[in-house]
Amino acid sequence: LGTGSVGQTIATALIKNGHEVMMGSRSARNEKALAWTGKNGNKASEGSFDDAAAFGEILFLCLNGSGALDAVRSINKKNVNGKTVLDLTNPLDFSKGMPPGILEGLGNTTSLGEEIQKVLSSAHVVKALNTLTAQLMVAPKLVNGGDHNLFICGNDADAKKQVKELLAREFGWMPENLIDLGGIQNARGTEAYVPFWVSIMQARGNPLFNVKIVQ
Ligand SMILES: NC(=O)c1ccc[n+]([C@@H]2O[C@H](COP(=O)([O-])OP(=O)(O)OC[C@H]3O[C@@H](n4cnc5c(N)ncnc54)[C@H](OP(=O)(O)O)[C@@H]3O)[C@@H](O)[C@H]2O)c1
Repeated sequence: LGTGSVGQTIATALIKNGHEVMMGSRSARNEKALAWTGKNGNKASEGSFDDAAAFGEILFLCLNGSGALDAVRSINKKNVNGKTVLDLTNPLDFSKGMPPGILEGLGNTTSLGEEIQKVLSSAHVVKALNTLTAQLMVAPKLVNGGDHNLFICGNDADAKKQVKELLAREFGWMPENLIDLGGIQNARGTEAYVPFWVSIMQARGNPLFNVKIVQ
């Protein structure tokens, strides 16, 4: 779900791996989604957010932070029953310039990940991939031979296991580098890190980096 650079990057990587992917948007026949299907062969399709939710075995939420809750509210709940939802959105507020802040009401005492889980209560939301640039999400080996960390959290152990296996199998993440922080409330921390990520990116002038925990 999402027609921006993240949605395009994830969807294209999955198509290259042989999967069928539907790109979801606010309305079917979105211009960017049609351009993407035009370039990606007969395993690529497009539709509304609800169409994509119904189609997907696993959903990737690649939504603008300020529109993410409206987008997930547009999904028929029966279409996500029991499904794993990998949420990589960030509740960033760019209205006061750079670096961004966190959108009012979506930080400190809650997070976008938690609010999405409340809306999609029949699904299993796993927050992951929101702490690094899109290119690196699907090709971790571009930095330090792939030896750097990814933080994931969510309330359902099986959904987190499914996401960890998918990240390793589809994109080449090293299983030992996936740090499970616990329940979805830990999205407060990973989302709050992103304004700091932006400051580091501005200081270095390059988004191709990540963090590695050492002890
Ligand atoms: N860029 C990165 O490298 C990166 C890295 C980590 C995390 N992220 C996070 O990934 C998410 C996606 O980023 P992006 O740059 O690819 O795309 P984006 O431009 O932030 O979001 C695009 C999607 O959001 C939907 N959208 C926008 N406003 C909406 C509204 N009011 N109601 C419902 N849906 C709305 C759009 O729907 P339509 O298709 O209908 O236009 C589109 O599908 C963001 O939360 C971002 O913080 C980005």
